[in-house]
Amino acid sequence: MNARILLLPGDGIGPEVVAAAVQVLEAIGKKFSHSWTLTSKIIGGAALRQNLPALPDDTLAAAKTADAVLLGAVGDSSFDALPPSSRPESALLKIRKELGVFANLRPARSWPGLEHAGPLKPEVLAGTDLVLVRELLGGLYYGEPRGQDAGAGTAVNTMRYSRPEIERVTRVAFGLARKRRRQLVSVDKANVLEVSQLWRKVVTEIAADYPDVTLSHQLVDSCAMKLAFAPASFDVILTENMFGDILSDEAGAVCGSLGLLPSASLGPGPGLFEPVHGSAPDIAGQGKANPVGAIASAAMLLSDGLGLHEEAAAVTAAIEHALSSGLRTADIMSASGRLVSTTELAAAICAAI
Ligand code: IPM
Ligand code: MN
Repeated sequence: MNARILLLPGDGIGPEVVAAAVQVLEAIGKKFSHSWTLTSKIIGGAALRQNLPALPDDTLAAAKTADAVLLGAVGDSSFDALPPSSRPESALLKIRKELGVFANLRPARSWPGLEHAGPLKPEVLAGTDLVLVRELLGGLYYGEPRGQDAGAGTAVNTMRYSRPEIERVTRVAFGLARKRRRQLVSVDKANVLEVSQLWRKVVTEIAADYPDVTLSHQLVDSCAMKLAFAPASFDVILTENMFGDILSDEAGAVCGSLGLLPSASLGPGPGLFEPVHGSAPDIAGQGKANPVGAIASAAMLLSDGLGLHEEAAAVTAAIEHALSSGLRTADIMSASGRLVSTTELAAAICAAI
């Protein structure tokens, strides 16, 4: 296969982790005889620094015509004073919307050798293997009206969802659960929010088409607690945009580090693949970033973006191999581990492929 992959390294540690993921893609290309046409474009603070909008037109055009997009991170505190609509993060919201990637899959698992890396007792973390399906194009992130009224000292955001928006992401979550352990937990705040009441109703209706999947509903506060107490009890979690943003960071911490979590954002066109972590400006450029989130995102690009499942499995196995051999970036370092840099860990993963 030849696939056109657009790279959007972005800000902070984004360029380092994308470079690591590219090395892995090249190793896979070599082993399985695929060739990649890689193009790189700027996004986020990297674009603002060149006096361009956070999402330049040619970056968006390249994304729309690519087979898949691999993004590092966006976020740069130099632009903190800007309104949300022109900050680096706005590029991410716009590219998600323009690509129509409504379903954001965020797998979180316990990796071999990292049973002790997180804050939980190893026996609590053991067996954790869940996927959080986050609705990505609705809710508070996009709802109108929104804005600040400086004079009145008020501000408003709107949590809005329509039936079709809930339905399409629900079908993705049920489809995924069907391929896994057939347990779906839909997370909402139906004891307070009308939007959540609609959410619960629509999800329950769709469940009739998936009788082989067990559906339960859980309130978001109680889900946050259960993620910490019993992460291994979850298979697929379905939730709206903001709840999914928050719960996925928690899932990252539970598994040992946010730096381990990959994501795939899927819609009708090219998928957008990015690690869940942010730009981490405090460690940028020092070779300290954990490349596993980005490399596992490249694995999702191979499987969910290009249909190359065997290749994706080879990446996952190589990550497992490197972690089992004790190699650790600082975020997951332990007494028995060997501290390595971003590029050293990536090289070990490539060698295992
Ligand atoms: C994420 C990030 C983004 C989000 C930010 C950077 C806009 O936190 O992908 O989880 O909130 O969606
Ligand atoms: Mn987030």
